[in-house]
Amino acid sequence: MLEVSGLCVSYGSVEAVRDLSLKVAAGSVVSLIGPNGAGKTTTLNALSGVVPVHGGRIMLEGRDITRLSSHQRVAAGVVQVPEGRLVLAGMSVRENLELGAYCRPRQDIPADIARMEERFPVLGQRREGLAGSLSGGEQQMLAMARGLMAHPKLLLLDEPSLGLAPLVVKMIFDLVLELKSQGQTILLVEQNVFQSLAVSDYAYVIENGSIVLEGPAAKLAADPAVARAYLGQAGPSASAPITGR
Ligand SMILES: Nc1ncnc2c1ncn2[C@@H]1O[C@H](COP(=O)(O)OP(=O)(O)O)[C@@H](O)[C@H]1O
Ligand SMILES: [Mg+2]
Repeated sequence: MLEVSGLCVSYGSVEAVRDLSLKVAAGSVVSLIGPNGAGKTTTLNALSGVVPVHGGRIMLEGRDITRLSSHQRVAAGVVQVPEGRLVLAGMSVRENLELGAYCRPRQDIPADIARMEERFPVLGQRREGLAGSLSGGEQQMLAMARGLMAHPKLLLLDEPSLGLAPLVVKMIFDLVLELKSQGQTILLVEQNVFQSLAVSDYAYVIENGSIVLEGPAAKLAADPAVARAYLGQAGPSASAPITGR
């Protein structure tokens, strides 16, 4: 589905992503894990066209999308649910869902909204309410539902569980599993490394803008270096580097 090769992204003189290559097979969930500031969000933003790339190539189903605008990429099927949810707080829940469907045929939108309200009942109950009045977990559901309204081929999820209560975190991961069972292709960025690996087929570890480790998710979850770096992820060992082991 997705093949990224030699991706480079800079902010001024800061090289945030360097020569990064990764693949996401159709129907798979792939995790991109790594410490804060490693370049995960930058990578997703480069894939969705929110930031320009300085080198490398992004192929979607064999088509070069590297130079497409972010709007064209949504139309091509690359849809990002950004970090921090970013729902439009002053618009209603329904309007937020409609926004996600801006590239869809108008006549399909009501049925898609009905499907989302079925999948996420709270979004139906709060249809006319302001998105900003939802709880953090509900806003994340809305952000994901808005992304799904575009019928993505590839869904890019950036820290969907960040800052949410454990019960809501579980709902997010259950949703990822449910989407996967329906054949949705997902590239997942998560600080909850082990929960993320548990729902993924394959994973990449990024540090300082480069991939330092990759493999089947189950294998990485059992890797002593990954365990060393992330097992006590609530504690100070979370930032221990994987490189130089
Ligand atoms: N808009 C920006 N301008 C300048 N530097 C940035 C910007 N966004 C991110 N960076 C830098 O790029 C690096 C990667 O950041 P980011 O992709 O957000 O990491 P992650 O999502 O893995 O925490 C960091 O060093 C960060 O400070
Ligand atoms: Mg980030």
